Amino acid sequence: EDNLSPYGIWIAEVMLQQTQLKVVLPYWQRWMETFPSLKALATAEEQLVLLQWQGLGYYSRARRLHASAQNLLKQIGPDAVGNPQHWPRDLDAWLELPGIGPSTAGGILSSAFNSPLAILDGNVRRVLARLQAHPRPPMRAHRLFWSWSEALIAAVPERGRDLNQALMDLGATVCTPRSPSCDRCPWQLHCAAYASGDPCRWPVTEAPKPLPFQVIG
Ligand code: ADE
Ligand code: SF4
Repeated sequence: EDNLSPYGIWIAEVMLQQTQLKVVLPYWQRWMETFPSLKALATAEEQLVLLQWQGLGYYSRARRLHASAQNLLKQIGPDAVGNPQHWPRDLDAWLELPGIGPSTAGGILSSAFNSPLAILDGNVRRVLARLQAHPRPPMRAHRLFWSWSEALIAAVPERGRDLNQALMDLGATVCTPRSPSCDRCPWQLHCAAYASGDPCRWPVTEAPKPLPFQVIG
């Protein structure tokens, strides 16, 4: 039931938006040494921030992190930032920051404060598409997939942190894109894709566009 440091979690979640965990880890460790606190990041030179990001790609993420750090510092107040209790816990406050969408915000708040907030990243979409053997591409059924992720959290609202982490871990290590390890999956008995015998048929991809009519002759 502990609150964990939102600062390090926020940095990690933003790094993990487009980059794999094993690549992120050394960057995150170096980052936390260079900018050990929100205040250190907010007051750093942009050049140093970009330098620490070098190699992770998508540099706009680093600029947005820097800008968000200054915004958060103002919001929380320089004397309160050291205490996780004073960081914002509502989704809306996080959604106002540049570069933070609903899934990243849910990931940060569930991880830091055990908040019962859903996430929906690529791994989670794949797991849910298989679990339900859903006939449409996940991106075409945005609301439905969110509602499933929310329903899972709603079933264990006191365990938002564990639920979301388990979902992400399942997608990253068991229910992988090309060769899911259904034999060691805790959801095997509930999984419609497994029951079909060919789980890799999900998530379905976009049907090819029909050819335009052609007048022949
Ligand atoms: N990708 C995004 N957030 C993650 C997390 N908390 N654990 C593992 N992979 C992730
Ligand atoms: Fe994924 Fe297989 Fe588990 Fe279904 S049983 S969730 S396809 S790993």
